[in-house]
Amino acid sequence: MESIQAVRGMNDILPDEAGWWRSVEDTARDVFETFGYREIRTPVAEKLELFARSIGESTDIVEKEMYAFQDRNGEWLALRPEATASIVRSYVQHSLHTDSAPQKLYEIGPMFRHERPQKGRYRQFHQIDAEVFGIEGPMIDAEMMHMLSLLMDRIGISGLILNINTLGCPECRQTYRDILKDFLTAKGDQFCPDCLRRRETNPLRVFDCKVEGCRALLESAPLLIDYICKDCRAHFDAVKDYLEKLGTRYEVNPRIVRGLDYYMRTTFELITDRLGAQNAIGGGGRYNGLVRDLGGPDVPAIGFAIGMERLIMLLQQGQPKKAHAPRFFIASLGDAPRVSAFLLVEQLRGRGLEAEMDYEGRSLKSQMRRADKSGARYVLIFGEDELMRRQIRLRDMLTKTQSLLPLDDLIESMLRIDSETIER
Ligand code: HAM
Repeated sequence: MESIQAVRGMNDILPDEAGWWRSVEDTARDVFETFGYREIRTPVAEKLELFARSIGESTDIVEKEMYAFQDRNGEWLALRPEATASIVRSYVQHSLHTDSAPQKLYEIGPMFRHERPQKGRYRQFHQIDAEVFGIEGPMIDAEMMHMLSLLMDRIGISGLILNINTLGCPECRQTYRDILKDFLTAKGDQFCPDCLRRRETNPLRVFDCKVEGCRALLESAPLLIDYICKDCRAHFDAVKDYLEKLGTRYEVNPRIVRGLDYYMRTTFELITDRLGAQNAIGGGGRYNGLVRDLGGPDVPAIGFAIGMERLIMLLQQGQPKKAHAPRFFIASLGDAPRVSAFLLVEQLRGRGLEAEMDYEGRSLKSQMRRADKSGARYVLIFGEDELMRRQIRLRDMLTKTQSLLPLDDLIESMLRIDSETIER
């Protein structure tokens, strides 16, 4: 019978890999909690309207990439393409703003975008997301980017470049939008049909275009950073100043517009040159108007998300696979010893020691082969004879030495051995 395959662009994380994921998640939780962030978990599906209203009707995500569907009641839902909109929805719904302290939240989980799958780009992917609500000033912008750099250091990834930019406020953006529109109109229909449409609906989105011809034309486009107002410039200058004070390295990249409409002022991306086309490990920025636009109070906010698949790909580059090995393997010969082995294995596990055995009564030779392959440092061997003498043979697979141990108080001996020795 033909086997069923996973959905294209949606990956299994197999046991050999899950350790990397867990260690990245643990480090992220650790770092975030040091900075005062608390975990939030939102549903993977939301009302479709939430994403249309927050990310923007004319963004690629909403126009082309949403997993949108009608449920059995005919309600339009979507699998979340990112976490920010859901977190804002939850923040408003549960009035988290009534707490006088600013809210620092993080979420880790799967996101869904119907993009064309390729290396580093999937249809189900995972984000580590952090958001701060209620701080207007530039200090938190710098702190967030500093936290992101620190997290990369802790995870052990170097060589990333933090690109920063400012998208101004709605006022300076309006001035710039007209200037950009004039530029696009002057180039006539040299742009692709998508860009011509964007020119009318949302001109800034032309910078998301992947068509080579459009990209080349945009080389000479006017840049938003040259048209921002005094307050936005002061905010941006202060962010840079704080980053310098914190020793966080950055580059100003005026071409970062981000693919989502809710941003204003500070935006940033963490870029690598080691993953080919999908070079953004993470990105984020300020989104001061969004809480209000989603029916909440006028609360400033800023956040970022990291793509876990890309992060783990970088982490694995050039590193050997981490093999997992039990500490002890119990090999037994005969029916009664096999039952004793079964009890012993459970006793060892009960004391927190990782142990494995052969459940099927195979030959000693094949058990020893399995023990070796498992990577266990110690093999405990016993048959009827040993059992009668209340003894057990201990083989150290590293030093290749054997000794006889009394069966009574074996668990205590194993605990001692475990605490004194290193991995195989
Ligand atoms: P984003 O730039 O769309 O921002 O996504 C953040 C990161 O998610 C990307 O840098 C990338 O590493 C990863 N990512 C995105 N799409 C895919 C994909 N199809 N396959 C694999 N990885 C992917 C946001 O989502 C914003 N919500 C970030 C944010 C939080 N802004 C404010 N707060």
